[in-house]
Amino acid sequence: MLIAQITDLHIQPEGQKAYGIVDTNQFLAAAVAQLNRFTPQPDLVIATGDLVDEGSLAEYQALKRLLAPLQAPLYLAMGNHDQRQHFRQVFPDLPYLPTAGPVQYVIEGYPVRLIVLDTLVAGESYGEIDPARLDWLAAQLAQAPHQPTVIFMHHPPFAIGIPGMDALKCRGSEALAALIRRYPAVQRVACGHVHRSIQVNWAGTIGSVAPSVAHQVALRLTTVGSNALVMEPPACHLHLWTAENGLVTHTHYLGEFEAYSYATKQPISLYA
Ligand SMILES: [Fe+2]
Ligand SMILES: [Fe+2]
Repeated sequence: MLIAQITDLHIQPEGQKAYGIVDTNQFLAAAVAQLNRFTPQPDLVIATGDLVDEGSLAEYQALKRLLAPLQAPLYLAMGNHDQRQHFRQVFPDLPYLPTAGPVQYVIEGYPVRLIVLDTLVAGESYGEIDPARLDWLAAQLAQAPHQPTVIFMHHPPFAIGIPGMDALKCRGSEALAALIRRYPAVQRVACGHVHRSIQVNWAGTIGSVAPSVAHQVALRLTTVGSNALVMEPPACHLHLWTAENGLVTHTHYLGEFEAYSYATKQPISLYA
């Protein structure tokens, strides 16, 4: 089973750039085109929040147009830049989408069970798993306690060492950690929000953050200077599950890079 995790799309109304700087719509179009050429095709693609930049209807409409060419089944999650009502208005027909409340759901029918959490707190940059959302997760985990499971959520519930971003992490993480510790079948807590590729040991499992398909957040490990964006290469995480090896996560850079055969020393194409 191959899961492509794309994150932090920050889509704009047509013709606009994020912060007046980053052409996020173009980055997503390129990411979709490259995922469509990847062999094998992902079994599914999950976008872990900050789908759009300001939560407007125009942004969600642009998002829908940009994602339409994607061939693999698509699942969407909320981030702090998202707005649930506008999201539901533009995506009314997603079969997995609950009609009200947090955008949380379970993806079944694969060797790995995927649980998608909603960490959005309206009007805030930080996230939260409040008692109601935690109870929902507890009920889902209890239904298949031994099946390999990956939890997807936008805000990391763990610190990652960038002070400016750690201030904006998911609150309620102690109770979440206590719950997840009870389920060794949880293979990953896979997040977005930090626009970098990060792995930590957390709650008896692996916590990960996927890089953005557009701009990244600068690696500022001191409290000097505020959060900054940096045009490091766009990328995504590919989570590969096999019964023999368990879950292996690759950082896959999105872009056109020269490739050569070791055998012939000749340029080759890596894509279909
Ligand atoms: Fe983001
Ligand atoms: Fe975010």
